[in-house]
Amino acid sequence: MANGSMTNPPTGGKVAAAGEAGKRAAALAALELVQEETRLGVGTGSTVNFFIEALAGSHRRPAGAVSSSEGTSRLLRAAGIDVLDLNMSGELELYVDGADEADPGLRLIKGGGGALTREKIVAAASREFVCLVDERKRVDVLGAFGVPIEVIPMARSHVAREIVRLGADPEYRETPPTDNGNVILDCHGFHIEEPLALEARLNAIAGVVACGLFAARPADRLIIGAADGQVEMVTA
Ligand code: 5RP
Repeated sequence: MANGSMTNPPTGGKVAAAGEAGKRAAALAALELVQEETRLGVGTGSTVNFFIEALAGSHRRPAGAVSSSEGTSRLLRAAGIDVLDLNMSGELELYVDGADEADPGLRLIKGGGGALTREKIVAAASREFVCLVDERKRVDVLGAFGVPIEVIPMARSHVAREIVRLGADPEYRETPPTDNGNVILDCHGFHIEEPLALEARLNAIAGVVACGLFAARPADRLIIGAADGQVEMVTA
């Protein structure tokens, strides 16, 4: 095919804008799933922020929401949505969150925003987990993003050595502590042929609070937003 007849892929700022449009489209589609009086779980990140913004501007009023981070709690309150305590709310009907990667089995890598532990808890406590991604986050095999792992601070070096033994390369994330007072190791180079087995293996390392592989509790529904505003829904 001659170069002139090929569609040029977006570059630089256009890539970011395309990603943003996809996230926004997925967030708007998720709004349709919120019924009056739904007890929601709400994740963390720029995609979820579009969802909260859309919810604030809509007539849909959930009963309240359990939040996966302090940042999301602030946005929910500003949007006039009650922030619920998971210990009091009971099971949640719907959990809405983003992801860093999603595979065809709706297994995910999460934790780019550092909220993975609370996200895992809220996902586990929800009947339906709807994950919103822009199309760039779809992968055949998880792993290129790396696997974020939340670690108790005193165990950081121990966990890092265990990760090296497993054949990956841990990188200390130099950000303020997580909402739980812990640190994040971003682990690169895993060949994730069996996400469920790797998740269990990582969870078994002393000092690991949670890892960003969501295979034991994958999404139930993936909403994929494209740059042109189209959305695709994939269910498990
Ligand atoms: C935060 C997460 C986010 O869902 C993930 O990083 C995607 O973020 P964004 O919507 O900003 O692309 O797991 O811990």
